[in-house]
Amino acid sequence: MRIILHIWRQRNASESGRMVRYEVPDVNEHMSFLEMLDVLNEDLIAKSEDPVAFDHDCREGICGMCGCMVNGVAHGPLPGTTLCQLHMRHFKDGDELYLEPWRARAFPVVKDLVVDRSAFDRVMAAGGFISVSTGSAPDGNAILVPKENADRSMDAAACIGCGACVAMCPNASASLFLGAKISHLGLLPQGQPERNRRAVAMVAQANHELFGSCTNIGECEAVCPKEIKLETIARMNRDFLKAKWSGRGTEDA
Ligand code: SF4
Ligand code: FES
Repeated sequence: MRIILHIWRQRNASESGRMVRYEVPDVNEHMSFLEMLDVLNEDLIAKSEDPVAFDHDCREGICGMCGCMVNGVAHGPLPGTTLCQLHMRHFKDGDELYLEPWRARAFPVVKDLVVDRSAFDRVMAAGGFISVSTGSAPDGNAILVPKENADRSMDAAACIGCGACVAMCPNASASLFLGAKISHLGLLPQGQPERNRRAVAMVAQANHELFGSCTNIGECEAVCPKEIKLETIARMNRDFLKAKWSGRGTEDA
C-alpha cells in the first residue's frame, strides 16, 4: 500500500520546525509503524538526505521509548497500543498521516519526533521508589498483600513512562503517570512508610517541571497504551491531600 506522511522536521531544539511531505510507496500491511518509518529512512539515507529521528528501543510495547502523534492522537488510532505495536494493516492504501512529536513544555523537542522526557526521570527520583535494605529475597508469603490491592498495584505498575498522557492532555498534565507510580507503591505494604512523603515530593517535582494540572478531561486514559485508569489520579490526590492535611511528608518537599 502507499502511505503519505507529513512529518515534523526540526533539526534541534533551538531551530524552528516544519511539516515535510513524504511518500512511502511499498508498505507491507504486516509492517509495524516503526518498520514503515525504517523503510522511509532507508530511502532517505540512499538519497543522502537526513533520516527522520524517532525514539524506540524494545519495539515490543514494554520500554516506553516510542511514541508520536499520529493525526493528532498519541500512539495513533488503535486503543491500548504503543506506536511500535501498531501495524500498517490498520491503515488504508493512500492514507495521509500527520506525525508530530509530543507537545508539552516539559518535553522539549530534541530532533524531529524525539523529545526529552528526562522530566519524568526527575519526578521518579523525587520519590518513586522504596528505600529498603533488600538483603536476600524474603519468603513469598512473609508479607501478605490483599488480592484486590495486588491486582490494582500490578495494573498501575504497567505504566511504561511513555508520556502519551502528557502529550494528549490539553493541560500537559502528568497526573496519570504520577497516579500510576504513586498507586503502584502506595497499594503495597512495602510502600507505606514513605507514602506521604512520596506523594508530596513527586507532585512538587511535577509542578516544578511545569506539567499542568489535571482537570478530569480523560484524554490521558483514552490514549494510554497500558490502559492506566483515572482512578489512579484519585488515589494520588487522596494521598497528597492526606499528607498535606496531616502535615506528614511535607517537611522535605
Ligand atoms: S500513564 Fe500510560 S500514557 Fe502515561 S506514561 Fe504511563 S503508560 Fe504512558
Ligand atoms: S519501542 Fe519500546 S514500547 Fe515502543
